[in-house]
Amino acid sequence: MAKEVVLSGIRPTGFLHLGNYFGAMRNYVRMQEAYDCYFFVANWHSLTTHPDTKELQQAVYRVVAENVACGLDPEKVALYVQSDVPEIAELYLYLNMLAYKGELEKTTTFKDKVRLQPNNVNAGLLTYPVLQAADILIHRAVKVPVGKDQEQHLEMARNFAERFNHRYGDVFPLPQAFSGQQELVKILSLDGNGKMSKSENQLNTLYLADTDDMIRKKIMKAKTDQGPDIKNAPQPDYIQNLFTLMGLVSTEDTIQHFMHQYNESEAGNCIIRYGDLKKQLAEDMIRFIAPIREKAAALQADEATLKRIIANGAEKARASAAVTLGLVRKAILG
Ligand code: ADP
Ligand code: TRP
Repeated sequence: MAKEVVLSGIRPTGFLHLGNYFGAMRNYVRMQEAYDCYFFVANWHSLTTHPDTKELQQAVYRVVAENVACGLDPEKVALYVQSDVPEIAELYLYLNMLAYKGELEKTTTFKDKVRLQPNNVNAGLLTYPVLQAADILIHRAVKVPVGKDQEQHLEMARNFAERFNHRYGDVFPLPQAFSGQQELVKILSLDGNGKMSKSENQLNTLYLADTDDMIRKKIMKAKTDQGPDIKNAPQPDYIQNLFTLMGLVSTEDTIQHFMHQYNESEAGNCIIRYGDLKKQLAEDMIRFIAPIREKAAALQADEATLKRIIANGAEKARASAAVTLGLVRKAILG
C-alpha cells in the first residue's frame, strides 16, 4: 500500500534552535521511515518582507544543512527548496481564483502583520495562506506537522481543497495537522519568559549553531531561585524547563541525581545546587549540540554537496508535483 504523504515547510528566517529541534525536527526524522515525506524551505513565503538576495540564499543553504545535520536523510525524504518547483506557483494561481478577499483579510497572521508592518501590506502577504495551500496540495499531502499557530492556515487549505473538489471533481484529499506518535515538547526560554524562539530573546535561546562557550554561558545564567523550601516542592516553570532539558540530553542517572536532591531539599537544608545542575546540563547539552553544529557547518562549507542534495530534492518534488498539476489542469482547463 502507498505510504501517506507528510509535508511541512520551514521558512528560512533565523537560526534553528532547541525548540525547533525537539518540537519539530526530531519528529520529522522519526516520520521519514513510515511516511512519504516532503520537507521544503519556504523561500517564496519569505519574500513578503523583501529580504536581501544574498542573505536569503545563505539562509536557504543554512536551513538545508541544519535539517540534514539533524538527521533528515535526503535519500529517504524529498528535501527541496520551494522556488525550485514552479508547479507550486501555477497551482497557487488556480487556488487564488477560489480564495476570497474577505476570508484572507480575516486570517489572524495577516491581521498581525498588518499591525506590525502597515506600510508593506502587499498582495503576497494577503495570499500567503493560498501559497501555503498550494505547497501542501501539490503533493496531495494528508498529514502536515506544524505548530498550533499554523492551524488556521491548514483549515484554509482544507477549504480551498474542498471548493476545488466541489467545482471540478475530486482531486485533493483534505490535509490535517499532525504531531506524529510522540507528545510534542515545548521548550521555554532560559529566562522562563515564553518559549524559545528564533528572533526574540537570543541570549535565552539555545541555537544549534551556538559554540560550546556560548552554550555554557547561556545555561549558566538561566533563571533559577533560592531553591525549594519544602520537600517535594512543586517546580516553578523555569526550573521544570531545566529538568525538561536534562530529560532530553542527560543520562537517566544524572536526572535522578538532581531530581532526588530537589525533592529532598527543604527550608534550612537545601541540598540541590543549581550551579552544579547547570554545569552538568551545559556539558550534556554541548555533547548533544556540538556534533549537529559541526555537521551543519561542514555541509554549509561544501557547496557542491549542498547543491546536489537540493537538486535531488527538486527532482523528486517536481515529479510528484507534475502528476498533481496534470490532474488539476485537466479538471479546470479540459
Ligand atoms: P520560531 O517560533 O522560532 O520562529 P517557528 O514558528 O518557525 O519557530 O516554528 C518551527 C517549528 O518549531 C514549529 O513546528 C514549532 O511548533 C516548533 N517550535 C518553535 N519553537 C518551539 C519551542 N520553543 N518549543 C517547542 N517547539 C517549538
Ligand atoms: N507558514 C509556515 C510557517 O510560518 C511555513 C510553511 C509554508 C508551511 N508552507 C507550508 C508549513 C506548508 C507547512 C506546510 O512556519
